Amino acid sequence: MSFTLVTTFLALLVIVHIGADSAAPDDVGFIYEGFQSSNLSLDGIAKITDNGLLRITNITKLQMGHAFYPDPINFKSASNGPAFSFSTQFVFAILPEVSGLSGHGMAFVIAPTRGLPGGLPTQFLGLFNDSTNGNASNHVFAVELDTIQTHEFNDINDNHVGIDIDSLFSTASQPASYRDNNKNSFDNLTLSSAQRMQLWVEYDGESKVINVTLAPIAAAKPNTPLLSLSYDLSPILRQTMYVGFSASTGSLAAAHFVLGWSFKMNGVAQALDLSRLPKLPRFGPKKVSKFFTVGLPLICTFLLLLVISGVAYHLRRKWKFAEVMEEWELAYGPHRFKYKDLYIATKGFREKELLGAGGFGRVYKGVLPTNKMEVAVKKVSHQSRQGMREFIAEIISIGRLRHRNLVPLLGYCRRKGELLLVYEFMSNGSLDKFLYNQPKSTLNWSQRLRVIKGVASGLFYLHEEWEQVVIHRDVKASNVLIDAELNGRLGDFGLARLYDHGTLPQTTHVVGTIGYLAPEHNRTGKATTSTDVYAFGAFLLEVACGRRPIDPQAPEEDVILVDWVFSCWKAGDILRAVDQNLGTEYVKEEAELVLKLGLLCSHSEPSIRPSMRQVLLYSDGSVLLPELSSLGISAVGLGFANPGSSDGISSSLSSMDKGFSHTVTESILSGGR
Ligand SMILES: Nc1ncnc2c1ncn2[C@@H]1O[C@H](COP(=O)(O)OP(=O)(O)OP(=O)(O)O)[C@@H](O)[C@H]1O
Ligand SMILES: *[C@@H]1O[C@H](CO)[C@@H](O)[C@H](O)[C@H]1NC(C)=O
Ligand SMILES: *[C@@H]1O[C@H](CO)[C@@H](O)[C@H](O)[C@H]1NC(C)=O
Ligand SMILES: *[C@@H]1O[C@H](CO)[C@@H](O)[C@H](O)[C@H]1NC(C)=O
Ligand SMILES: *[C@@H]1O[C@H](CO)[C@@H](O)[C@H](O)[C@H]1NC(C)=O
Ligand SMILES: *[C@@H]1O[C@H](CO)[C@@H](O)[C@H](O)[C@H]1NC(C)=O
Ligand SMILES: *[C@@H]1O[C@H](CO)[C@@H](O)[C@H](O)[C@H]1NC(C)=O
Ligand SMILES: [Mg+2]
Repeated sequence: MSFTLVTTFLALLVIVHIGADSAAPDDVGFIYEGFQSSNLSLDGIAKITDNGLLRITNITKLQMGHAFYPDPINFKSASNGPAFSFSTQFVFAILPEVSGLSGHGMAFVIAPTRGLPGGLPTQFLGLFNDSTNGNASNHVFAVELDTIQTHEFNDINDNHVGIDIDSLFSTASQPASYRDNNKNSFDNLTLSSAQRMQLWVEYDGESKVINVTLAPIAAAKPNTPLLSLSYDLSPILRQTMYVGFSASTGSLAAAHFVLGWSFKMNGVAQALDLSRLPKLPRFGPKKVSKFFTVGLPLICTFLLLLVISGVAYHLRRKWKFAEVMEEWELAYGPHRFKYKDLYIATKGFREKELLGAGGFGRVYKGVLPTNKMEVAVKKVSHQSRQGMREFIAEIISIGRLRHRNLVPLLGYCRRKGELLLVYEFMSNGSLDKFLYNQPKSTLNWSQRLRVIKGVASGLFYLHEEWEQVVIHRDVKASNVLIDAELNGRLGDFGLARLYDHGTLPQTTHVVGTIGYLAPEHNRTGKATTSTDVYAFGAFLLEVACGRRPIDPQAPEEDVILVDWVFSCWKAGDILRAVDQNLGTEYVKEEAELVLKLGLLCSHSEPSIRPSMRQVLLYSDGSVLLPELSSLGISAVGLGFANPGSSDGISSSLSSMDKGFSHTVTESILSGGR
């Protein structure tokens, strides 16, 4: 409080001192950095805002306002003398109602009265009216900052600075721009941009030049003025005048602000300390914080990506583990496995877990995640749904009844185009490995006999003991698995049927393995219990002889195992056919029985082949095997047909390699599965 008093007192002293000392009688000077405690004379809608801004108009339409320094200022020493030099600097800002649409403008004014009586808003900028505009008796000097082009007054554009003498027809005007001191060209400015700008108005009483200089707030005062007009203000200015501002709005409106103002008679106006000017009100849409402009979009994008990748992951998983399930399968619920579990069990069907591949698909080893049980998962690709229902009904019902010579089927799973069968894992693998990986691993005679008897009882179970007749269709050494106690167990029952199903009777469409296929099976395409017995016969010979039913590398007349054993028998030395790897370590009577039984089962005439019940009786010795010669085979020799000879397979055998001869489906016979 006391400080303000002291400064006011000092300022008064200075004014008094200058006034007394200078050549001119009254060299007034003042400076406002904010108008907080000023004593300006206001009219219209002009107002000093709470934070010290001089607001000449707000955005109310068709309004005007005036703000004048309260005291008169001497511009001449005598009423007919020359006008003194003066200079002024002010900082202004024009905030349009709507960005880009502003009206009408403002002006720095030197006028004979404190207000501007008769002044009108809109294009008159609060300075004149129709009848006074242009009248030399006005004695008004103004610098306009015009934001609307009024053709009536020959305005150059809607964003210009003009020197107005008694008239709104500017004596000089330029588009709003400034010349940076480091550049040669003018840079445009937009008056109604809501940006703070500086304006200097200087008059040199000696040279009679008016300079008007515009600059953005951040720039230093340009050396080159925007307008430099040679004009003698002496006839215009009276001895005492008032200085101030005028502004107006029309149907378009803007708030016209002055933030700071300094004026000096006969000298250079004191430079404004821009840092001390009051703050402008916020303009335009609510300024949102960095959080909303940068942070939130980033977070949203991140979340969106997260959601998308989550959904993609979920969909991928869903797709990856998708299964096919039909209503009829609900009955087999307990036997249904989740694909996901099988996927985990087999470590994603890794190549390392592969146990082997057969004609129908690949078999993988796995450990079920639920109960840590070891399983073998057979992946069968199957496109058609035909026969699927019957097949699953059959295998599940067989799987339900456990027989110690059948590989237990634990369940299944279906996917699009794929059937997965889950079997108990047989730790010793399939029999063919024991037979053909000799001498690395082999079975002795009693073990072989035990396997044979086991398989016979398993097959008998399928044929006769089970409530319905089940034809295995693919009896062979590789489908006989050896469990931990070296029992033979028959696997893959019924699978061939899945591919056999629905074929027309007239087409020869046979699924099975060459060498095990009964000749009438090839002809009719129909699998029966006797075709199974035929395959079992081939299997008997295979186990006893340690040789595949068809061995392309054997001497030509011995390629077909049955033919060879038959020829041994005819030569009276059937035991010559026994596996060389056994040496003499076998029981002659048993071996002879097995070989003869094998020949009997391989008879080309189905009615002569024994049933599995008879096979069991023969093999445990409770019934004596009939003499082969009494069956009328020996005489003709044709009795033991080579499999498929009627279909021309044997002719192509020589061109087959070993692997090819092993498992063949009807693709050979009818050219496509
Ligand atoms: N339950 C099982 N336990 C252990 N190994 C098995 C099991 N099932 C199959 N295997 C192994 O997988 C291999 C491939 O079996 P797969 O049934 O696919 O072929 P295959 O028997 O040679 O021919 P086919 O397709 O005619 O049955 C077998 O040779 C066997 O070693
Ligand atoms: C403009 O100012 C006048 C006078 O101060 C006031 O009455 C009016 O409400 C204001 N208008 C707006 C839109 O702020
Ligand atoms: C403000 O100006 C008016 C008019 O010139 C004058 O009457 C009044 O005393 C002044 N007030 C102050 C505080 O300067
Ligand atoms: C114009 O202003 C003058 C001076 O105040 C006044 O006498 C006159 O009536 C005004 N004319 C109009 C049309 O407003
Ligand atoms: C100018 O204004 C004066 C005083 O108001 C008036 O007498 C005179 O006729 C006006 N001149 C013109 C040309 O309108
Ligand atoms: C500046 O404004 C003037 C008039 O509005 C225009 O002719 C000129 O092209 C502008 N210059 C630039 C650099 O925008
Ligand atoms: C006006 O500007 C010119 C340069 O354009 C300069 O020479 C002159 O001194 C200036 N006059 C005043 C009073 O600043
Ligand atoms: Mg198999």
